[in-house]
Formats: sequence, C-alpha cells, structure tokens
Amino acid sequence: MQDLVLGIESSCDDTAAALVDANGVVVASVKVTQTEIHRPYGGVYPELASRAHVAEIVPALHQTLLDAGVGPERIRAIGVTRGPGLIGPLLVGLNTAAGLGMGWSLPVIGINHLRGHLRSADLEAPRVKYPATVLLVSGGHTILAYMEHPSAIRLLGTTRDDSVGEAYDKVGRMLGLGYPGGPPVDRLAKTGQASIPFPRPMLHSGLDFSLSGLKSAVSRYLEDAVEASYADVAASFVQAILELLVVKCRRALAENPSASLVIVGGVAASPQIRSAAADLCQELGVELCLPPLRWATDNAAMIAFATWDYIRADQHPRPVPDVRLSIVDY
Ligand code: KG4
Ligand code: ZN
Repeated sequence: MQDLVLGIESSCDDTAAALVDANGVVVASVKVTQTEIHRPYGGVYPELASRAHVAEIVPALHQTLLDAGVGPERIRAIGVTRGPGLIGPLLVGLNTAAGLGMGWSLPVIGINHLRGHLRSADLEAPRVKYPATVLLVSGGHTILAYMEHPSAIRLLGTTRDDSVGEAYDKVGRMLGLGYPGGPPVDRLAKTGQASIPFPRPMLHSGLDFSLSGLKSAVSRYLEDAVEASYADVAASFVQAILELLVVKCRRALAENPSASLVIVGGVAASPQIRSAAADLCQELGVELCLPPLRWATDNAAMIAFATWDYIRADQHPRPVPDVRLSIVDY
C-alpha cells in the first residue's frame, strides 16, 4: 500500500523530512535546525547552511523512516522544496530527492515552498474555514494570499524588499539582542513606550509590503539619538509592524470576503501579532486560525501535504518520458 508521501525541506536553515498521508496526518516528522550555527553571524550564512544540510539530510531521512517504522514500499511519491530559497541548501534537498526517486523508482515532485506554507494550517486536522485569507510572515517571506479552497491559491501581495522576520532580526541586531531577533525584540517592546514615530511604508496603498525604510529609520534614529531608550525603540518598531500588518489584513479581508484569517510563519509566534489579529478578527466576525507553531515554521510535513494536492490534481499523467527521472514542478 503506497499511502504516504515523503517530504523533504532544505530551503534555508532547517533540514527536514516527514511522512504524511493523504489526509494530512503526519506519521513522522524530523527537523534539524541550524540556529546555533548562524547565531554568530546575525543571520543565515548560506555556505554554512549548505554544509549543515549535507551533514544532516541523510540522518534526518533515516530517522523519519525509523520513527514511522515504514520502508519505501509505503511511499507513493517524494515531494521536495524546489524554491524559493538559498540555492546551495535547495540543491542538497533536490539532489537527495532525485537520488531516492531513482533508487526507489518513485516520482519526485518539486514543490513551491510557499505553497507548502499556505497549506500548513490544515496539517493533522482541517482547521481552515474557506475561503481564507492567509498571511505568511517568516524570516524568508512576507505574503498575503487568498485561498478559495485548498488548491485555488491567489497571491494578493508580497514584500518589495525585506520580510517582516528579517526586519525583526535586523532591529534585534541593532539593539544588541542577538539572533534571531523576533522573541527578544517582542519582550523588550513590552517594557517600552511606542513613542517614536517610525514610518509605516506603503500603509495607504495596496497589499504589498515594504519594510526596508522602517528598518533604516530605526538605524538612523539609533545613530542620531543622544540617549536612546532601547525599550522605546523596540516598542515603536513593533507598533509600526503591527499597524502595517493589521491595515494590510483588514484591506485584504475587505477586498476578498473570507471565512477565516490564517497566519503562518515564525513571526506568527509574536504575542503582540496574535493579539492584534484576534482583535481584528473579532471586529470583522472572521475566524482566526493560528496553526501549531511546529507546522507554521519551516517543516517537511507541509511540503509532503502540498505534494498530495499535486497527486490529486494530476488526474492525467503528464507527457514526460519517465516521471521517475524527472522532477515535476508544482
Ligand atoms: O518561519 P521561520 O521559523 O523561519 C524562516 O523564516 O525560515 O521564521 C523565523 C523568523 C525569524 O525572523 C524570527 O526573528 C521570527 O521568525 N520570529 C519572531 C518571533 N519568533 C520568531 N518574530 C516576532 N516575534 C516573535 N515572537
Ligand atoms: Zn519558509
């Protein structure tokens, strides 16, 4: 019985593998994070990320199969992140998947990482009420999307420069709070006053984001201020981010009537963002869906789950000479 998809994720700084069934039940999921490797650099160091993936990917796959207690005979297909991401880390996952596909005579499907994130909220249990507006806020991405149903995805907006997580990380570094910056910036913000009028770029236009101006404004303020209160800087920065996210979500929900607002990505861990989103949803009568953080951050289960969408959609096999040796894109 080939009832499982093997997912592989290596687009940034997590080496992950997972086995997921057609209903999104996660039979096994392993993730090796590289935060400690990158911490001294204040951000992801691509060459070190690639090397760590090389070291970890086979053990992660082995552990996933051991945890599930299954062999390749149960696997229907291999889904692997094909991008967006860092090219070195992506190549490690893609080549491993291609090798396994050849060895086990299984099709290999290249999955768009963002599609995985957008489907992550329904892993393990159907949680999302459709149609849904989805906000993905992580270290690598900031996007708004509309999902009429699980496989009808329309991109509404994206960042023109930095992601929200990147902005948190850079401000965290400026304030000497280490990497990743999100959690300590949030904690410090709670002790300060949001008294500094940092800009809210593109607040009044459309559904795209721009965060580099906000980040530069924080940097300039810290250079110019005679005596800066770091707590007030953090509070004012977080306030600007909250206002940007709330206004864009409000606009997206007004333009695209939705039953739920889904928030995924590492930044969804922010208590301030969670509470602002809860207030917005209550006001608009929309359900707020915050999946468990282990599925909201990078993982391979979401890639395997998106692979099942491809398998279901691809009723008629594509005219490729030998799917076992081709990476099909989805
Ligand atoms: O999704 P994720 O774990 O990884 C990738 O982007 O690949 O997201 C990590 C990002 C980092 O930028 C981190 O600073 C941010 O999520 N983050 C937070 C919080 N926890 C993590 N940002 C704001 N508040 C938090 N509590
Ligand atoms: Zn991601």
